[in-house]
Amino acid sequence: MLDYAIRNVAILDGSGSAAFEGDVGIKDGRIDALGTVGAARDEMNGQGLTLSPGFIDTHSHDDDAFLRLPDMMFKLAQGVTTVVSGNCGFSAIPADPARDPMAMSGGILAGISGDFRDLNGYFRAVLERKPNINNMMLVGHNTVRVLAMDMAQRSPTPQDLVTMRDHVQLALEQGACGFSTGLIYRPGRWSVTDEVIELARCAAPFGALYTTHMRNEGDRLLEAVDETLTIGREADVHVHISHHKAAGPGNWGKVKDSLAKVDAALAAGQRVTLDVYPYTAGSGRMIEYFNLDRISRELAEVIRIASCPAYREYEGRMLKDIATEQRVDITELVRQILTAPGGDRTICIHFIIAEEDIETNLAHADMMVGSDGIPDLRGRPHPRLFGTFPRVLARYVRERGILRLPEAVRRMTSLSADTFGMVDRGRIREGVWADLTLFDPASIVDTATYDDPKQYPAGIEAVWVNGVLSVKEGEDQKAGAGAMLRYRRERF
Ligand code: ZN
Ligand code: CU
Repeated sequence: MLDYAIRNVAILDGSGSAAFEGDVGIKDGRIDALGTVGAARDEMNGQGLTLSPGFIDTHSHDDDAFLRLPDMMFKLAQGVTTVVSGNCGFSAIPADPARDPMAMSGGILAGISGDFRDLNGYFRAVLERKPNINNMMLVGHNTVRVLAMDMAQRSPTPQDLVTMRDHVQLALEQGACGFSTGLIYRPGRWSVTDEVIELARCAAPFGALYTTHMRNEGDRLLEAVDETLTIGREADVHVHISHHKAAGPGNWGKVKDSLAKVDAALAAGQRVTLDVYPYTAGSGRMIEYFNLDRISRELAEVIRIASCPAYREYEGRMLKDIATEQRVDITELVRQILTAPGGDRTICIHFIIAEEDIETNLAHADMMVGSDGIPDLRGRPHPRLFGTFPRVLARYVRERGILRLPEAVRRMTSLSADTFGMVDRGRIREGVWADLTLFDPASIVDTATYDDPKQYPAGIEAVWVNGVLSVKEGEDQKAGAGAMLRYRRERF
């Protein structure tokens, strides 16, 4: 007897092949049978709907959200069953409970709240909270650098390097899928290429990844891609470029040149993959984007405030509107916000990306989808936190025809699972974990907007995590069936 049967669905198996009709039977958390399946303790008729592997968010900052918000509904309701955390050089691990969590997490994790030091400890702490979705971790450069040398604006001493390497090594031994950097952020921006190569080398024996928020995504994007590819070659690791984009109107279109570099590297045998979020705005900790001695007016004019502990009334508003209303120069307003108590915790949304570049990115065969959502639910977060995956299927598949549905699903499932070492996930076939999303391709749509970002999408009927029905018609089933995953390991 099966535990669960999903009947009469169009099955998109994640491989990129066309859908086929049938049932899916689940037993002991895994897919037990496909085709016409037998009796089950529980079942759902999915007539007219499409069943795919659960979506995989390759770029999340959910490290601390797993502790604070274990229902993870902002992801689960999108059909996301697994995320990769620890991106952009900021990870919950390693941690020193005696240190300032804001410095170690760069503000983009919205803090770190647990009492743990390493990956094993973090996983234990998260599992106690019974999370609804699966998590795979990266270990972050900024985090280990703060632990080894605080915010020192210099290269590491040989001893600092040993300390950092030990942290990275331990995380990889415990099952992290790779080493991440955020080279525009502090303290990562104070590192030279050789430091990153030395640390990325730790990933090589594990066949693990080097993922990067590159040093520059604007005027020097192409140099940054060169640096990334050099790091991959020198360290002999698979490189994954995070949230690939060309920032600022003067650079729009450059993603084509940058992808040409990636294609040349691929042709030369290098392992390279990327991800993108389907929005024309980025989001991050505002203080990282401004030099207070020379505040960029151009940038300030395209910024909207997401969350701002110092001025809650600014949340959800464009800086230029606030400046006009208050009759203050916009650069002064930036200074006022960033230098206020708690001002460094301000999260902003900046409209810096061309629509056409998103389409160029999504058309690339090695492009995955990563939300880059910052799980701070106070204020008005970037809508990507709630809308990324349905948005790709609604806007770029159904409306714009940039990629076909089976291919979009492949990029959100098997490609991500294979790249990030998630064993027996990302596909629908016998024997794999039953992470599944049941949706209507004709109506699936993101409803989260910049004005009203905390909205669950429509058109997703149900989601199963490790074989357990976890969302039905947008309602949390309180299954708590998420697992903590270890890179390329059968058991977790
Ligand atoms: Zn980033
Ligand atoms: Cu990020």
